[in-house]
Amino acid sequence: MKRFRELRTSAAIRDKYAEVSIKTSEFIYPYFVVDGTNVKQPITSLHGIARFSIDEMLIDMEETVSLGIEAVLIFGVIEEKEKDENGTAAYLPGSIVAKAVKAIKEKYPAINVITDVCLCGYTTHGHCGIIHNSEIMNDSTLPLLAQMALRHAEAGADFVAPSAMMDGQVEAIRRLLDEKGYAKTKILSYSAKYSSGFYGPFRDAAQSAPSFGDRKTYQMDYRSIDQAIGEVAADIEEGAAWVMVKPAHTYLDIIQRIKSTFSEVPLVAYHVSGEYMMIKAAAHAGLMNEETAMLEALIAIKRAGADYIISYYAKDFAKLYNHNRHLYGKIQSSTI
Ligand code: PBG
Repeated sequence: MKRFRELRTSAAIRDKYAEVSIKTSEFIYPYFVVDGTNVKQPITSLHGIARFSIDEMLIDMEETVSLGIEAVLIFGVIEEKEKDENGTAAYLPGSIVAKAVKAIKEKYPAINVITDVCLCGYTTHGHCGIIHNSEIMNDSTLPLLAQMALRHAEAGADFVAPSAMMDGQVEAIRRLLDEKGYAKTKILSYSAKYSSGFYGPFRDAAQSAPSFGDRKTYQMDYRSIDQAIGEVAADIEEGAAWVMVKPAHTYLDIIQRIKSTFSEVPLVAYHVSGEYMMIKAAAHAGLMNEETAMLEALIAIKRAGADYIISYYAKDFAKLYNHNRHLYGKIQSSTI
């Protein structure tokens, strides 16, 4: 008989045998930014998350930064009346995201600022590309995404993160950034982004749901694996410095495949809105312990091979981790 239980006799022993750990600096925390001042609008579909005007976001970031989170992902949210067919507000100089990036960089120069590059929050139809004869057009969307990324780079973004799932978007962005003198701005590509029911709460938060149809002609079909490898390979070739798998918790196999195939490229996994809210809602209903379930989900994502995790739980994790670190040095398996 082999005695496995010796590996589990106490929290201290379990800690010694733990193979996977996770730390606050491995998280990326999302912000939804709106125009105006003094706005802090809780998002009903995403418990614990709010839409902020820039001034309020900067205040909130004091906590984020003091917790040890080193990177943020910025989404712009605009009013319906500012949207048009072509998503013009996304790539006009002085866009909401450009202003937000500039303000963050002034106050927190050491924080890594990543911006979402996609048209869905800016178009009247809510699709990620422009439309011609009810078709979402690939090639004519590319220059618009590149312009949007340029605005973010000009404002000081460290990474631009194209999430529109248009073919060639990384190449189009890389080329324009290089041409305009922003060779140092890196691209974090949402390379393997699946068409997912787990984005529901986000679309409410960002007011970016498609007004007709779905995103299945551009986002990946969840029955495919090889396409994820192909998407990542193409993005790396086109100039992506980092790549992403999204969603995360329901796509652990894809994370593992991408990490083992492209081990040298930093891999980000997006623990998306629906994955977050499933835990929140279950905990709220008294069905699960939130801390326990949160840690298990986040460590599973890390265990699968993610280097960094985008999560609405980043702050909650940091609070728990920082608290436990004073006591034990790392998260106790007794809390997991
Ligand atoms: C924009 C975008 C989406 C998410 C991130 N960027 C929504 C979508 O593709 O419909 C989802 C994030 C989340 O669910 O937390 N294209």
